[in-house]
Amino acid sequence: MLRSQRAVIKKTIAYLKRELGKDSSGHDWWHVFRVNELAKRIAEKEKVDIFIVELASLLHDIADYKLHDGNEEIGPEKAKEWLEKNKVKPEDISRVVDIIKEISFKGANVKFKPSSREAMVVQDADRLDAIGAIGIARTFAYGGHKGRLIYDPEINPKLHNSFEEYKNNTSPTINHFYEKLLLLEKLMNTEYAKKIARDRTSFMEKFLKKFFLEWEGKI
Ligand code: NI
Repeated sequence: MLRSQRAVIKKTIAYLKRELGKDSSGHDWWHVFRVNELAKRIAEKEKVDIFIVELASLLHDIADYKLHDGNEEIGPEKAKEWLEKNKVKPEDISRVVDIIKEISFKGANVKFKPSSREAMVVQDADRLDAIGAIGIARTFAYGGHKGRLIYDPEINPKLHNSFEEYKNNTSPTINHFYEKLLLLEKLMNTEYAKKIARDRTSFMEKFLKKFFLEWEGKI
């Protein structure tokens, strides 16, 4: 990577710490930190432009639609403004912005493949941070942030057929494991992420098994 590129990344990190520091929905700076670390690790085994992977993984949640009344435009737009301000080449900006637009989960039955290897790496990294022990912690943090119940045995999980349906759902937090988290393993793009996803998914399966036993006071 060029020295000027490293400088942009350093400035971007400082910017994100300022912007995302106080978020309590699970999309704080430390989520971005973990996604960036995972993305770099996955990228080591892939032929990708590491500058693009770094910038996209850092900026991917700069304004997540989930926290902005479902508005999907704000995030990519804000990332674009920041990169322009920092004199990143226009073609690099458009690659980063495309990744940010492409990678979010849009519902269990909404099929969509990212269009570049770089997007696949960042999407895998972001999805890995949604599962496993960290995923469980983030899921309940997000549910609390949205005022959702932990669990309600009378409300069944639902596989969403459209992005509209998915983003407007208000089901209890446990349902989210069945509506998204347990499905992510099969959607990983890279071999390396698939391996990590298997381990993290089996941890969630164990957690859920125990959760339901405890729910009924059985153990
Ligand atoms: Ni994210």
